[in-house]
Amino acid sequence: MSLSIPPAARPDLSPRPFTYANARLTCSGADLTELAERFGTPLYVYSADAIRERVSMLQTEFAAVPNTLCYAVKANSSLAILKMLGELGCGFDIVSGGELERVRRAAPQALRQVVFSGVGKQIWEIDAALNADILLFNVESEAELEVLSSRATALGKTAKIALRVNPDVFADTHPYISTGLREHKFGIAIERARDVYRRAAQLSGIEPAGVSVHIGSQIRAVEPFQQALVRVRGLAEELRSDGLNIRYIDGGGGFGIEYGVAAFDPAARVAEYSAAVRTALNGINVQLLLEPGRFLVAQAGALLTRVLYTKQNGAKHFVITDAAMNDLIRPALYQAHHEILPVLHESRASQLADIVGPVCESGDFFARDRLTPELRSGDLVALLDAGAYGMSLASHYNTRVHPAEVLIEAGHPRLIRRRETLDDLLAAELL
Ligand code: LLP
Repeated sequence: MSLSIPPAARPDLSPRPFTYANARLTCSGADLTELAERFGTPLYVYSADAIRERVSMLQTEFAAVPNTLCYAVKANSSLAILKMLGELGCGFDIVSGGELERVRRAAPQALRQVVFSGVGKQIWEIDAALNADILLFNVESEAELEVLSSRATALGKTAKIALRVNPDVFADTHPYISTGLREHKFGIAIERARDVYRRAAQLSGIEPAGVSVHIGSQIRAVEPFQQALVRVRGLAEELRSDGLNIRYIDGGGGFGIEYGVAAFDPAARVAEYSAAVRTALNGINVQLLLEPGRFLVAQAGALLTRVLYTKQNGAKHFVITDAAMNDLIRPALYQAHHEILPVLHESRASQLADIVGPVCESGDFFARDRLTPELRSGDLVALLDAGAYGMSLASHYNTRVHPAEVLIEAGHPRLIRRRETLDDLLAAELL
């Protein structure tokens, strides 16, 4: 169904690295049509400059306090991106032995700046992290503390730990990615933490060195971060009065972005965030650790996909792309909004459509009832803000191979992950 709505003006996509140049969508100077022809679709495209810019915003705003940015590997765990972040001086927040291995391969010099989070660390993962002499274990339960103590003792290591406390702070975000309330599985209730630290201090192989908190993801207000850190700071002071040498406060990740095309000034938002964090921690002499993921990489990336077919079912118009929920699951899983733009900006009537993938589920959609310029078979579209939790959540559902990934550096594309083949996909299976 075509509506007689005038074609939308070319939107202002800032602060993203994606812009129209002569009606062709580009990423940091690279032409997306050419990338699609050269590397095929679906294709993840990232701008190295845009990632660097976000790192430097955080580094600048937090320069006044001793800090380490421990990039949350889960947001985008591409080795090339980890390497780049390591070169920029970042540490890493990992949640598995697999992510530790990625850091070892991409940024081995940063292993000593790794924090290990997660509620279900396994023994082999704990051993690997102990052997890598990581900076800090964010311990999430007393049971984990006991296991860590016995493994550290067995390996002749001392594990520096922070308890991840649950501050019971509400943060307005999607329920699946909110973590700071008592009802969530994460952390240890802050009221109980002092007792658990006492126990930790008695355990062999354990050195209480910090307090950590992470209240959730895609949090756009700064107040919840401040509230959580005020509580954490209070606890850190009590622990010091108990004689513990608390020298790290890990404020977690979660700092959000704007997925729409509303005006968004990330530098101004980082300044606000930093002011809130520094106010909460004013005067307490600690090394601040932060675990940003999404803020650094989401807007640097897009998923490029080609329209396969269009069809009309009753009142509904469908645009079927070659990317699907297995490539980018955020709309299906969190009802997340991603801007969807034609790669060639032509003068076409607008149209209300569901933009969907080929996977056999009604949940396989990128947008529902979205107004876009009319899309036709063969057109390329870009799904914006797909640099975080895009490729890292990709699956093989429907026996679909993972997309390729390209990093744009100084205007030049570099393939950082080739498209999988069916042989790759089937390689681990036994008949
Ligand atoms: N630290 C910890 C302990 C975390 O659990 C997370 C994210 C982060 C740091 C990084 O959070 P960020 O700065 O990226 O918000 N798949 C969801 C997001 C899940 C977040 C999980 N934890 C999404 O696509 O929105």
